[in-house]
Amino acid sequence: MNTKEKLLGLLESNTEKYLSGEDIAEALGISRTAVWKAVNALRSDGCDIEAISNKGYRLVSDADVLSENGIRKHLDTSIADIGLSVYPVTDSTNIRVREAALSGAPEGFAAVAGSQTAGRGRLGRSFYSPSGTGLYLSLLLRPAALPSRQTIKITTLAAVAACEAIEAVSDRKAMIKWVNDIFIDGKKVSGILTEASFSLESDSAEYVILGIGFNILTPEGGFPEEIKNIAGAIFDRPQKDIRNRLAAEFISRFMAAYRAPRFGGYEEKYRARSLAVGHTVDVLLPAGPKEAYVLDVDDDCRLIVRYPDGTEDSLYSGEVSIKLSHAR
Ligand code: BTN
Repeated sequence: MNTKEKLLGLLESNTEKYLSGEDIAEALGISRTAVWKAVNALRSDGCDIEAISNKGYRLVSDADVLSENGIRKHLDTSIADIGLSVYPVTDSTNIRVREAALSGAPEGFAAVAGSQTAGRGRLGRSFYSPSGTGLYLSLLLRPAALPSRQTIKITTLAAVAACEAIEAVSDRKAMIKWVNDIFIDGKKVSGILTEASFSLESDSAEYVILGIGFNILTPEGGFPEEIKNIAGAIFDRPQKDIRNRLAAEFISRFMAAYRAPRFGGYEEKYRARSLAVGHTVDVLLPAGPKEAYVLDVDDDCRLIVRYPDGTEDSLYSGEVSIKLSHAR
């Protein structure tokens, strides 16, 4: 932990009182100038730190400060040992986790950011990752002998964990658009990007990077033009400590299910939250959209559809997308 992180930890544990520069300097074993510099660095990361002369410093207690301590406080004790790096801003948390994977980090390592300058979305798109209104995180997984076709299960497991995490911190009902978008009231509030490195000899994943982004609030001025019709936010007003709580809820729920035998039988939970099952959708085929009724999602996460001519098909998410254009 660097000085800034240590100072944040100290302020987080003392939000009910002011700490003088002298007390902080003594507690952290640094000079008062170093305290002053660390306070300024935290403020430029977006921390709301009050300073009153003759009293000292205090973290505004209803602030939403993303931090390692703040996340660990809410993590399930069964995963207390995971590595965790928190960045006010980074290019992409998936990139941070790839670096960690290549340097041998163990499974469960998480990179969490308050904003991303090069957030990656599916199909080579970028993922809008502004500061202050979103949460961006990636997890490193090292599944034993998971065949390439099955890595999709990690995405769907994450989709279920994301819905449950959102519902644990809010009163909103979250649903899944096949396979990796989370919707609330018809708007996308979260997206998942799973990237994997495969061993050609064994056709199994050497490591998997599970990345997820949440829109917690609508950014000031709204979402950019190109996503404004689809994107939405979980909340309509700021919430206390929400990013730490949501990160911890997601990581705890995902890791618990991931470590359970057969991923904890998540398929039923996934189906129950599917926006597609039981509805007519447009299947986006290379030849153009084709209307289809969605019968089911099978245990390999394929979408089972029936076309108006009565023929049925099972679709892999890597090959086709759907548009939820009917009945909602
Ligand atoms: C999508 O909706 O297309 C998937 C978006 C995935 C975004 C997350 S944010 C955290 C992680 N880091 C990235 O660069 N992308 C994923």
